Amino acid sequence: MQTYLITGGAGFIGSHLCAALLKQGNRVINIDNFDPFYDPLIKHNNIRHLADNQNHILRKIDLRDREKLNEVFQSEPIDMVVHLAGMAGVRPSIENPILYEEVNIKGTMNILECMKTFGIKKLIFASSSSVYGNRPEPADFTEDMALNKMISPYAITKKAGEDFCYLYHKLYDLTVLALRFFTVYGPGQRPDLAIHKFVQLIDNHLPIPLYGDGSSMRDYSYIGDIINGITQAANYLHQHKEVFEVINLSGNRSISLKNLLHIIEETLQQKAIVNQLPMQPGDVEATRASIAKAQRLLHYEPQTTIEEGIRQFVAWYKNNKNNHA
Ligand SMILES: NC(=O)c1ccc[n+]([C@@H]2O[C@H](COP(=O)([O-])OP(=O)(O)OC[C@H]3O[C@@H](n4cnc5c(N)ncnc54)[C@H](O)[C@@H]3O)[C@@H](O)[C@H]2O)c1
Repeated sequence: MQTYLITGGAGFIGSHLCAALLKQGNRVINIDNFDPFYDPLIKHNNIRHLADNQNHILRKIDLRDREKLNEVFQSEPIDMVVHLAGMAGVRPSIENPILYEEVNIKGTMNILECMKTFGIKKLIFASSSSVYGNRPEPADFTEDMALNKMISPYAITKKAGEDFCYLYHKLYDLTVLALRFFTVYGPGQRPDLAIHKFVQLIDNHLPIPLYGDGSSMRDYSYIGDIINGITQAANYLHQHKEVFEVINLSGNRSISLKNLLHIIEETLQQKAIVNQLPMQPGDVEATRASIAKAQRLLHYEPQTTIEEGIRQFVAWYKNNKNNHA
């Protein structure tokens, strides 16, 4: 049994990860401040089924509160930290860049400082495909690409998080995997993200906002595949010392917004009412990952097609409609 400290464990990805690690018989210390970026009730619902699990310790703490973080690190034996908490979302970061800087950069530094102080060596950090920015060349994104094309404060905070992880690896021998997630979806998906928003609006016969002409491309990742990738990353860290790696995790297939909408319409058996709007600042034209490094180091192989993943999401949505904000 390992003890994992998960930050953001009440969120979309975090709640799935807590459940998976607990199922494997581990202990999980879950730090989350139930931030109101979207309805905190959804986050309480995400982890309701873990309430009776003795191995799940929930601590309502803000990443920016160094003293409270110190108390947790001091009082609990921790084998590995999985740092998922943060302000997510590209467009809102343009509205409120200072908040993103405080939570995503300073919050990450607080976690790294606690790890340094209490001698915790293993860390998984949630980074993002947005660090690749807008790239005119059609090539797949590889981890060694120069990152000089970022177009949102969110992307910059994630890159800064990676850089601080690298610094603490160099200075204090932390072993770190920074995982760049590509648009994650599936049961429990954040309500601000396109698939969730589209399904909810179409189901309610309301117009959907479609930014751009529908040709923008995304490499969507199913939550179950991402959770496998994170647990494989944890296994890698258990077996390796003093490494730092940045690794893409995606569904390994890029599709257009138009095509995504078509799959959602087919699954819901209902046509969307489309309200076409200009591209939003901060949104990149296309994301497409190379997952060769994840395949090589983690034996990562995404299993879920977008069609199957959307079916899973819609089934979850229909069962949970009344809990949606
Ligand atoms: N979902 C995606 O498509 C995606 C893609 C790339 C990267 N990521 C990154 O993965 C991580 C998890 O994403 P998610 O989709 O589960 O988002 P989420 O918003 O559902 O989860 C983040 C959690 O962090 C918590 N949090 C926010 N600020 C906090 C603070 N100051 N102190 C403590 N807790 C705080 C929130 O309450 C939330 O429960 C984030 O870092 C996000 O940037 C997500």
